[in-house]
Amino acid sequence: MDGALRTRKVISEQRRYCEAKARDRNLNLFVPEAFIRGIRHIGYKSNLEALSELVDNSIQAYSERVDLLFNFASEGSTARPTQLAVVDDGHGMAPAMLRFAMMWGGTHRENDREGLGRFGYGLPCATVSMGRRFSIYSKVERGATHVVTLDLDLLDNDAYRNNDGELEIPPARRAHLPDFVSNALAQSHPGGWKSGTVVVIDKLDRLDWTTAAGLRRNLVRHFGVAYHKLLRATSIYIDGERVRPIDPLFLSPDAELFGLDEDHAHALDSVTMTIDGELGDARGSVTLRYAWLPPSFGAIDKSRDAIGINANSRFPILKHYHGIIFSRNGRIVDIQSRTPWTTFINNDRYIRVEIEFSAGLDEAFGVTTAKQQVSLSREMWDLLRAAGLPKAIEHLRQKVRSAKADRTTASRPAVASTSTSVVASPSSTKSHAIEPASPLDVKVLTGRILREFAPEAALDALLAKILVRIRLGRAEHAADYDSLLREWASDMRAGHLPLPAGAEAPKVTVKTRGRS
Ligand SMILES: Nc1ncnc2c1ncn2[C@@H]1O[C@H](COP(=O)(O)OP(=O)(O)OP(=O)(O)O)[C@@H](O)[C@H]1O
Ligand SMILES: [Mg+2]
Repeated sequence: MDGALRTRKVISEQRRYCEAKARDRNLNLFVPEAFIRGIRHIGYKSNLEALSELVDNSIQAYSERVDLLFNFASEGSTARPTQLAVVDDGHGMAPAMLRFAMMWGGTHRENDREGLGRFGYGLPCATVSMGRRFSIYSKVERGATHVVTLDLDLLDNDAYRNNDGELEIPPARRAHLPDFVSNALAQSHPGGWKSGTVVVIDKLDRLDWTTAAGLRRNLVRHFGVAYHKLLRATSIYIDGERVRPIDPLFLSPDAELFGLDEDHAHALDSVTMTIDGELGDARGSVTLRYAWLPPSFGAIDKSRDAIGINANSRFPILKHYHGIIFSRNGRIVDIQSRTPWTTFINNDRYIRVEIEFSAGLDEAFGVTTAKQQVSLSREMWDLLRAAGLPKAIEHLRQKVRSAKADRTTASRPAVASTSTSVVASPSSTKSHAIEPASPLDVKVLTGRILREFAPEAALDALLAKILVRIRLGRAEHAADYDSLLREWASDMRAGHLPLPAGAEAPKVTVKTRGRS
């Protein structure tokens, strides 16, 4: 089906749906205010999963480009956004569809299994999980831009009650896009924005990251992995930064981190099974992909373990996507480190397993409305067992174990010959792990990294680590890092380059320690 034809098909499906709804005269928000406020806490794991719902919608509207934009208070700092917008250039929505898109349960694709959405909850649940007001702007080709807005604060003032006392979403009205959105569109679509949808969230009171930089960095990584199979058709930009695909199995040559260094993932044959009758009415396919990684895969200095500053930019992916990765219709929805027969331990970071399933099997995989987790039925686990999953996991573990053993053997003679190679030996992991790196080592290592990698990418990776520590570390460490970053930002802005004032102090320590 060509693009224009499929767009017409979707728009006419939306129109039919709206006409049927209008006949029902069912334009009420059928839930009381308390329910809407309660649903804010429906439990997205984080803003990342909530924003994925909006990106899912944009992808399903055949968008070529999706932008997540941040807007800041005009006189405030650029640290914390005051508005978020997800902007796409998909087929858009006819004005009558807008109020249904805003309603809980409003969908033109009820129980559809072909794409990413099927429940009619994604858009309203995701938006109110982050802020107290949201607006949906949309435009179909050759149409005008219309908007609907829901402000939770106005709910309490009866602003949405009609004459019969029922809650009702006001109809869509013609509108101009907010300036920060139209400015961004002028850049991203110099030929004009022909159609598409913009969801703006403001009164942001539930952001998990305190800075736009933190949110951006996490989104770039999260979306890079979650949408790595879909980014070819739809590109995603976060605050101007393009999301690059990251295959968490490191098997795709055109994905990020594949060619970071000489280490490569080793694939095992993938297995596809078609389910038709084995699980009642459920129909669909499941593909199991496998890979194992050499033990040095996450390390910068390959002779040492991927610990602390020797961890490369692959390491956070190994750590975070640790367990079986579940992908539904091409979008990663969950990672689970427990199966009925085995639990993934730290060493299993080097074995990679992905289960790709079609949405026709949602019930068997226990997919919930938020599409952020799976909970497999016993029958589904049994089918996976029959497809050889436990054996494959053991086989991958064996591969990793023997690669480790080979590496240990290879480095053993060196261990005996010089004192420096003691540090290089994986067999000395323990002593090396507890021995704090001297500041001199840090400087040498930093120099080496900056020669080896693009300084910008290296700085990005370092900042990402610091932000993770701020988020996950102990409170006093978080405060230290936070003030360090603020100081660094103000020094940079004030033009204190290349080293901020006061940087001499650690240097002195370096020399003293180095000599003693
Ligand atoms: N970016 C978009 N472009 C075009 N139409 C959209 C867009 N976002 C939402 N819609 C319309 O609004 C409806 C509601 O979206 P919503 O995300 O709430 O539900 P859904 O995607 O149908 O199901 P799910 O709850 O599984 O996400 C969609 O069915 C679609 O008709
Ligand atoms: Mg949706």
